[in-house]
Amino acid sequence: MNILITGANGQLGTELMRQSPDRGFSPIPVDLPELDITRPDQVRDSIRDGAISLVINCAAYTQVDKAESQDMPAYHVNCVGPAVLAHICAEAGIPLIHISTDFVFNGAKQSPYLETDPISPISVYGKSKAVGDAVVEKIQNRHIIIRTAWLYALQGQNFVRTILRLGAERDTVRVVSDQMGCPTCAADLAEAILMMVEAIRTKGEIAWGTYHYCGKGVTSWHEFAQTILDIAKSYVPLKTSQVTPITTDQYPTPAKRPAYSALNCDKIEKAFGIHPKPWQESLEKTLLQMLKPNNESR
Ligand SMILES: NC(=O)c1ccc[n+]([C@@H]2O[C@H](COP(=O)([O-])OP(=O)(O)OC[C@H]3O[C@@H](n4cnc5c(N)ncnc54)[C@H](OP(=O)(O)O)[C@@H]3O)[C@@H](O)[C@H]2O)c1
Repeated sequence: MNILITGANGQLGTELMRQSPDRGFSPIPVDLPELDITRPDQVRDSIRDGAISLVINCAAYTQVDKAESQDMPAYHVNCVGPAVLAHICAEAGIPLIHISTDFVFNGAKQSPYLETDPISPISVYGKSKAVGDAVVEKIQNRHIIIRTAWLYALQGQNFVRTILRLGAERDTVRVVSDQMGCPTCAADLAEAILMMVEAIRTKGEIAWGTYHYCGKGVTSWHEFAQTILDIAKSYVPLKTSQVTPITTDQYPTPAKRPAYSALNCDKIEKAFGIHPKPWQESLEKTLLQMLKPNNESR
């Protein structure tokens, strides 16, 4: 089964590329500059010959703060891109798996968000992703939208790598403790997506629609940072031992973030037997790989 993976050089795309062959899929990686998801000609060219059975869209404008001052590029990539992909997948009769975010919620809820909860994004990035999701739903029935959260991977720009760098460079690291969510390892998300692809391969038709997938357990950015350094200190020298908790007000950013954006993953568990792993377990595994390159734990 040939799978086109857009945004293949990003955090999630790289993991999907790494895991697909082991599961018997042939991944075809595409990314900028050769394939821009907002360009119908380029997307059409890449699936024209009928050799592609499914598209996984990992491409997105993901710079949450920059999007506040660059709303046009954010909307262009996150709305036009999914619209183009959905349209061409529908035309070709192939399913589209599209990735979305916890940032479509406003964070006012006090318990994990369900797929059916009303969305109300509070940032340009969140709004652009919400519109992208809506166009996918409208254009291509055979779609899966997976909302995920607080994504990190071995490579790429992410919170885990930033905290490791800051912890090694600085005596003091300050991190917000009043925003709660679910750290998600890109390797786990890739595994979950490929289980869904397997279900599509064997059954043909599945329960299309929106699903949540994130690491199991809810934490704050502060606790996440502290856990990163607690694990890392056994492997690398660090200047920071205790992360200083601060409030969102003490760390103003251009984009507002939801105060609470945990996602309820019961639906994906019931429909596909996909069980999210505890976030601490996946973090430890990833850090071992990052900090001990010869480690064979995955
Ligand atoms: N990162 C998170 O914390 C997080 C949380 C929740 C949901 N998500 C969602 O999860 C998905 C994957 O995120 P990620 O962290 O893997 O993203 P990422 O690392 O930023 O990767 C995105 C990839 O898409 C490429 N791209 C950007 N514009 C493109 C375009 N017009 N055409 C084709 N490719 C384009 C990027 O290329 P350049 O690098 O050259 O721009 C990059 O290689 C996204 O949909 C994101 O919104 C992410």
